[in-house]
Amino acid sequence: MKNKILVTGGVGYIGSHTCIELINAGFDIVVYDNLSNSSIEALHRVESIVGQSIEFIEGDILDYSLLDHVFKTYEFFAVIHFAGLKAVGESVAKPLLYYKNNVTGTLNLLEVMQRYSVKNFVFSSSATVYGDPETLPIVETAPRSCTNPYGQSKLTVEYILEDLAQSDPTWNIVSLRYFNPVGAHKSGLIGEDPNDIPNNLMPYISQVAVGKLKQLSIFGNDYDTVDGTGVRDFIHVVDLANGHVAALDYLVNHQAIGFLPINLGTGKGTSVLELVHAFIESTGVDVPYQFVDRRPGDVASCYASAAFAKELLNWSADLNIVDMCRDTWQWQSKNPKGYTSESFS
Ligand code: NAD
Ligand code: WQD
Repeated sequence: MKNKILVTGGVGYIGSHTCIELINAGFDIVVYDNLSNSSIEALHRVESIVGQSIEFIEGDILDYSLLDHVFKTYEFFAVIHFAGLKAVGESVAKPLLYYKNNVTGTLNLLEVMQRYSVKNFVFSSSATVYGDPETLPIVETAPRSCTNPYGQSKLTVEYILEDLAQSDPTWNIVSLRYFNPVGAHKSGLIGEDPNDIPNNLMPYISQVAVGKLKQLSIFGNDYDTVDGTGVRDFIHVVDLANGHVAALDYLVNHQAIGFLPINLGTGKGTSVLELVHAFIESTGVDVPYQFVDRRPGDVASCYASAAFAKELLNWSADLNIVDMCRDTWQWQSKNPKGYTSESFS
C-alpha cells in the first residue's frame, strides 16, 4: 500500500490545508504535531471539511521513542515533514532552539525512518535558502546562502538530505522550496493564525483590515523595483497544498530519485504595494499604511521559476492575487480572533 502518509506539523497553517488535499486525493494520513504553534481546533475543522476523522498523535519530533513507537504501529509509505519553527526574528534571538527543533528534530525523524525502511520524504524547505538571489526568476540550481538561523536550519537540513540520498540510493527525497504562502481554504474555516503580532505581510494586512492592528508599516519604498517596495512570489496555500499531492504522486511512481529540490511558487512577482491595493480592491476594506525604513535582512525581489515543478510534477499554481486576498479576508473576517474566536458563523 502506497497511501499511508505521516504528516508532521499537520495541524499548522500549511499542514492543515495539505491534509485536506491529501485526503481528497485518497491518501490515508496520520498527523503528528506537538501543537507548539497550532491549535487542535484547526484539525477539528479539517475533519469537518473532509467529513471524516483524522488520526492524530500529539508528539514532538524530538521525542525519539514516541516516533519509534509510531513507526512500529503504522506502515508508512512516506513522510511529509512540516514540523518546525519558522519565525526569522525569533531564530536570531534563540538560535539553539531553532537548530535543535529544526535540525535535531529532523535528524531524529530521518533516523527512525531509516530504521523502519521508510525512505520517501517530502521536506518543507523555503525560498529563504536562496538568500539574496543573483538572477530572477530563481531556478533550483541557483546558489544557496542564508543570513539567519532559521534559514540556516533549512539549508542545513537540505545538506543533510543531499548527503543521505548520496549515501543510500534507496532514499527518495523531495525538498519543496516554498515562496510566500498566503490565503486560506475557501470555506473560511481554516487559515493562518499567528500567535503574536504577525511578522509576515499578509496576516499583518488582514489584521489591520479587521481592526486588530492600527496600520501597516511598509518596510522600504526605495528598492529597485516597480514601485520601490519589495517584490515577492505570493502563492495560495491551497495551490501549495496541491504541490505536496503532486510530489507524493511523483514518489509513488518513481524510485531512486535522490535529492530533488523543487520550487513551489507562481513564477510571478508582486510588490508589497500591489498586494495592499489588491487586498483593498478585492475586499472593499481599507488598509491604512505608512512607509518606514527597510527591514534588515530583506531582499528587494524574490520570485520563482515555476518551470521545473511544471515539467516534473505537472503542477502549477491556479489561484491569483485576488483569490489570495479574498480567501485571506474570508478567514480573517469570520475568525477575528483566529481559532480562539467564540464561534464560527
Ligand atoms: P506552522 O507553525 O503553522 O506549522 C508548523 C507545525 O509544526 C505547527 O503545528 C507546530 O505545532 C508543529 N511543530 C513545530 N515544532 C514541532 C516539533 N518539535 N514536533 C512536532 N511538531 C512541531 O508553520 P507553517 O507556516 O505551516 O510552516 C510549515 C513548514 O513550512 C515549516 O517547516 C516552515 O518552516 C516551512 N515554511 C513555511 C513558510 C511560510 O511562510 N509559512 C515558508 C517556507 C517554508
Ligand atoms: C514580504 C514583504 C517585507 C511585513 C518570510 C521568511 C521566509 C519565508 C516566508 C519561511 C517584504 C514586507 C512585511 C510588514 C512589510 N518563511 N513587509 N511590512 O520576508 O519574504 O519571507 O516568510 O520559510 O523565510 O523570511 O515574507 O511576509 O515577512 O515579507 O512591508 O509588516 O513584505 O519587507 O518585502 P518574507 P514577509
